[in-house]
Amino acid sequence: MRIFSGIQPTGRKHLGNYIGAIRQYVHLQDEGDPAIYCVVDLHATTIAYEPAELRRQLYDTTAILLASGLDPARCILFRQSDIPQHTELTWMLAATATAHGDLNRMTQFKEKSAVQRELVSAGLFFYPVLMAADILAYGTDLVPVGDDQRQHLELAREIASKFNSRFSDTFIVPEGRIPDVGARIMDLQNPDKKMSTTASTEAGTIFVLDEPKAIEKKIKSAVTDSGSEVRRGEGKAGISNLIEILAVVKGVSMERIETEFADSRYGDFKTAVAQAVVEYLAPVQAKYAELRDDEAELEAILADGAAKASAIAAPIVAAARDKMGLGRPVA
Ligand code: AMP
Ligand code: TRP
Repeated sequence: MRIFSGIQPTGRKHLGNYIGAIRQYVHLQDEGDPAIYCVVDLHATTIAYEPAELRRQLYDTTAILLASGLDPARCILFRQSDIPQHTELTWMLAATATAHGDLNRMTQFKEKSAVQRELVSAGLFFYPVLMAADILAYGTDLVPVGDDQRQHLELAREIASKFNSRFSDTFIVPEGRIPDVGARIMDLQNPDKKMSTTASTEAGTIFVLDEPKAIEKKIKSAVTDSGSEVRRGEGKAGISNLIEILAVVKGVSMERIETEFADSRYGDFKTAVAQAVVEYLAPVQAKYAELRDDEAELEAILADGAAKASAIAAPIVAAARDKMGLGRPVA
């Protein structure tokens, strides 16, 4: 089973990214044949950015992935812009298998374009086509992502099917893998909105690299709901979010958390969540500190990943080109 996922090198990675996506990447790396993980710097250029900052964040994100447990000996870890097939296939898919109307319906495009101060670029509109190209160029069977990528994934499946029916079977139609618990971690200050790099509040977002004190403060000041019982339910978005976080971090069910804290007050519960999250992230932070400064080593890992990625993507994209009637015919 071939596994592929991508993560943006924008901003600081948060607990939502960790729980919804990175945790899955690590679990799945031995099930992939191979498991392929891509830091999607081309996607990051679709909104305002600084080139030097992009490179720094590329290293930050790579180091976080390695610190979280991705092992370059057991998976392929590479940088999107190192492989020209991603951009080439984006055009091919956009031109022949992507409906303009489908792109127009993408909710992330609507959300992101609404908050752009300067340029709403055509690249931002094409973002889901580039994501489809990432996935399809590797003959991917399974795509681990968080809940917010559901619509993009559905479009990638649609694009693969359209291409296949027009030019004969070329691409595998991928399945998504969205975790049952932890696929949508909410902003601690505004639990009706997902935790995110750009849209959520600073105080409501736990970053993977936050100091223990900051984590404690954010969790202790998390918005809770009226009532005093630690259980999920109507009008209890804040507490439900904390229950979900604690369940994932402890590796137990949400029911188990509710039973365990049935007689606790919100304050004690929050203290337990804070402590568990601090302990959960501590080993990642320690490993990150060891890895981050050696940029030459990070580059070496990415270069090795790019060589392996290229060997997979090049023949798949070449076959698609040939079917489209582009270039010299393949004998
Ligand atoms: P991004 O940082 O936008 O590249 O997202 C990387 C991965 O994290 C994607 O698979 C997202 O679906 C996932 N993700 C982002 N925000 C959250 C969240 N609040 N809860 C769970 N997963 C998330
Ligand atoms: N769009 C995804 C996000 O914002 C990142 C991404 C790019 C991706 N290419 C991908 C995810 C391919 C899965 C597969 O999180």
